Amino acid sequence: MKKKLISLVLIAACVFSMAACGSDNGTTGESGDTAGQTSDAGESDAEDASEDGSSEGGTLIMATNAEFPPYEYHDGGEIVGIDADIAQAIAEELGMTLEIEDMAFDSIITAVSSGKADMGLAGMTVDPDRQKNVNFSDTYATAAQVIIVKEDSAIVGPDDLVGKKIGVQLGTTGDIYAEDIEDAELERYNKGMEAVQALQQGKIDAVVIDGEPAKVFVSENEGLKVLDEPLTEEEYAIAIAKDNDELLEKVNTALATLKDSGKLDEIVAKYISADE
Ligand code: ARG
Repeated sequence: MKKKLISLVLIAACVFSMAACGSDNGTTGESGDTAGQTSDAGESDAEDASEDGSSEGGTLIMATNAEFPPYEYHDGGEIVGIDADIAQAIAEELGMTLEIEDMAFDSIITAVSSGKADMGLAGMTVDPDRQKNVNFSDTYATAAQVIIVKEDSAIVGPDDLVGKKIGVQLGTTGDIYAEDIEDAELERYNKGMEAVQALQQGKIDAVVIDGEPAKVFVSENEGLKVLDEPLTEEEYAIAIAKDNDELLEKVNTALATLKDSGKLDEIVAKYISADE
């Protein structure tokens, strides 16, 4: 009987030591958690850098929709334009490497708010609805929604858009404003250029789009003109995730530097000639 008791104790001790062995595993797990906490603590820049080795400061991912000259468009295999150059200059200020991701315009806010991209630069207008999902940097350009029509059109100003067939790029402020035009029928396109081509083919009566791309599209498509009177005045800014105040601050500081040094004007002048 006594012997049995002893062997039971031995078994118990054995089981205990296995448990102790298990707690070693626990220790390993704990150190794993610690590593997790480190990245939670916001040292992702340093981590990115060590992961891809591309730059000391890591990668800065810009989400855009490169269908919007002169702000962003494809040139050969590259995405170029005012926003691409501004983003590059900001990345340089922050000691980071810029990566551009091209996507549908109406995916940009989600890409930024979900952390898939660090910032959205897409000739994006500061808009209260968008501000529910992202923060905006200080503004870097003023813009306007304008109307493109055929050269011989009877539409001469915003009031004439009532009851007309209007083309817009899906999810843009042009889309939002045109929605409020009385009895207007909206045609939404994935690219502004597609709306302009539909206008040229007589499928729609007018296109509502930002002023600078409007000039480019009209210069590339015969028989069209931009009306003098704009529909709205707007401002462009950079979209950044709501929880990334650190980046917002850095981007605003970089923007201020680019404004003060004249670099921002230089970038704009490279793509927009002053006499236009
Ligand atoms: N400014 C307009 C907006 O914010 C149009 C921007 C379109 N940009 C682009 N890259 N497609 O809605």
